[in-house]
Amino acid sequence: MAAPERAPGLKYAHIVGWGMAVPERTLTNDDLAAFVDTSDEWIRTRTGIHERRIAGARESTATLGLRAAQAALDLAGMLPGEIDLIVVATSTPDYVFPSTASLIQGWIGATRAGAFDLSAACTGFVYALEMASQAIRAGSIEAALVVGAETMTRVLDWSDRNTCVLFGDGAGAVALRAADRPGGVLACTLGSDGSGADLLAIPNGSSGYDGAAPDGANGFHKLSMDGRGVFRFATRIIGAAVTQALEKAGVDLDEVALIVPHQANQRIIEAAAKQLKVSSERFFSNLASYGNTSAASIPIALCEAVEQGRIRPADKIVLVGFGGGLTWGAAALEWPEELPPEPDRWDQRRRGVIYTLARLRSRLMRQWWRVQVWLAGGAAWFEPAPPESQPQPNRLQRFWRRLRRRPPQK
Ligand code: UT7
Repeated sequence: MAAPERAPGLKYAHIVGWGMAVPERTLTNDDLAAFVDTSDEWIRTRTGIHERRIAGARESTATLGLRAAQAALDLAGMLPGEIDLIVVATSTPDYVFPSTASLIQGWIGATRAGAFDLSAACTGFVYALEMASQAIRAGSIEAALVVGAETMTRVLDWSDRNTCVLFGDGAGAVALRAADRPGGVLACTLGSDGSGADLLAIPNGSSGYDGAAPDGANGFHKLSMDGRGVFRFATRIIGAAVTQALEKAGVDLDEVALIVPHQANQRIIEAAAKQLKVSSERFFSNLASYGNTSAASIPIALCEAVEQGRIRPADKIVLVGFGGGLTWGAAALEWPEELPPEPDRWDQRRRGVIYTLARLRSRLMRQWWRVQVWLAGGAAWFEPAPPESQPQPNRLQRFWRRLRRRPPQK
């Protein structure tokens, strides 16, 4: 299949670094069976999951995302100051705002970067990759960080065996850089069908949705799912999305070394392989160890596939996701010909210093914002407020004015 013509001057978005982070704490199927009506046998045979990771009290979507992002930057040899854009795909952000992306941006000191979160459920990473690589292709940015990070176990109803056995926590990230030579993210396809919105949802009480009472009743902020409905949708959409992305990229399925799907259920992966008439060996799966980590599942799987030698330099691969929305998406990629060199000790130390300084800067800036607010506020007790029509001097300006008004000392 011939690759489609590209307009001259367009750049290519190459993946130059990748990294992942998962919590230490493991919850096995047997652990789950101790407090919910399920069994290791049922979970293994119906889903392929053996265990999942659970975020600790001091971990969050943002801290897991940070660790994955730093690992990707370290591998890429990319400094935080080079990054133009950070996109974090997540359905479990620490805050509605500030975005998880802004938190990570501040912590690593990516002072030149724009940052935002993207919500497309389990397809989020593919959406985020497409947004960042389009910006690179169009020439508006040079370097980007794309993160998928989740703490799904914080939105689970632990008494609902239909959902609580499926999900886990973690994060994965890739660093992208513009290049003139062909390769990298070749083509993406994205889709959505809101008529299936009820199949998979996390209600948000703050928008006035009446099914979600703010006191935590009615499943407020808890995930609900029609498992069979999502299963049917997933087995139908994966093959179609992979075929569409490959057509756009001008790549034959035979040329694809590995398909990295969203990790939701081993039976879904096997059904998709059957539909595409390829061996399920050509689909990567690490579901057994992590369960479904939503937007983090594809980048985590990507990192492990590289580590296990399942992806080699210059390989053509496909990432494919599906999930709430309903949403789906696939990306055809060409892996870099040369793997980045291992960061040496000196480079690691330099990065350690940069990250420490960035954290320090972030803390100092936070205090500085407080000082500025303090200086700008409290006008009523400092001196009478001027009429509203006039611009009000802030506390610092009033302080200097008073100093200047003071009679000279004899
Ligand atoms: O990122 C996308 C997120 N979601 C998905 O991808 C989910 C897609 N769906 C699935 O993976 C599967 O539908 C599930 C794993 C959720 C369920 O598997 P299933 O084979 O579709 O089971 P089912 O819902 O048809 O339920 C079969 C039986 C039911 O019992 P009855 O009604 O036959 O007596 C369930 O109550 O299995 C029961 N069941 C369980 N039994 C033990 C459901 N969950 C459990 C459980 N342990 N955890």
